[in-house]
Amino acid sequence: MREFLIAGNWKMNGSSAASDTLVSGIVDGIPEGGGFRLLVCPPFPYLASVAIQVSSSAISLGAQNVSEHKAGAFTGETAASMLKELGCGYVIVGHSERRAIFGETSEQVAAKYIAAQAAGIVPILCVGETLEEREASATEDIIDGQLDAVLDAAGVDSFASAVIAYEPVWAIGTGMTATPEQAQDVHRHIRVRLAEQNAELADTVQILYGGSMKGENAPGLLSMPDIDGGLIGGASLKADDFLAIAAAAAAAH
Ligand code: PGA
Repeated sequence: MREFLIAGNWKMNGSSAASDTLVSGIVDGIPEGGGFRLLVCPPFPYLASVAIQVSSSAISLGAQNVSEHKAGAFTGETAASMLKELGCGYVIVGHSERRAIFGETSEQVAAKYIAAQAAGIVPILCVGETLEEREASATEDIIDGQLDAVLDAAGVDSFASAVIAYEPVWAIGTGMTATPEQAQDVHRHIRVRLAEQNAELADTVQILYGGSMKGENAPGLLSMPDIDGGLIGGASLKADDFLAIAAAAAAAH
């Protein structure tokens, strides 16, 4: 059985003090039981201190973005090797905010994915459609395009050390969650697409759901056969909210 991954994407929120409080609240409240892993992805300035806070716990550390370049004259960018040094085991790539606000293309996302893996970091590849695309019945085409850019550049076997997050753009930060069935349909589609190239591997890849996930809707989403956890924004900013989702994962396993 695949393990659940419950990942908090703090985005550009918090302060040094708020980050300390949030992490200690999570560390102190990790639910009993197995079958799930917790991950926090703080803003860059807090990575080093959160790394120390989680070092003696089972919580993993991730970053929210990474440069596709190894090193050099790239002002303001952060190399995967630097994230690795800080103790990051994961990095989010291709979040819809990076695609929409910062103009990241699927090819650039694929390059970031490759850079992360080259440094020994597991990329969490985000894919998802806008409301217009869903209403035009283009969801699967959009997901395929985003996925294929990575499959073409890195190959299916690279998914042995990657996580996928399905995040419908219309559900992010809106309070509008995909129903468990809507999410399951897309998760299934993603797994089948990978299975066309490597069935055994497709069965092991963790596919997270993201978009207004919270304690109340987590049990329904996590009960779906192809949903292996969550990438959580708003509800990852308070320890109790995040832990409620972790508890749902522990109960669902
Ligand atoms: P949300 O964000 O949980 O606030 O909708 C999810 C995400 O953007 O990763």
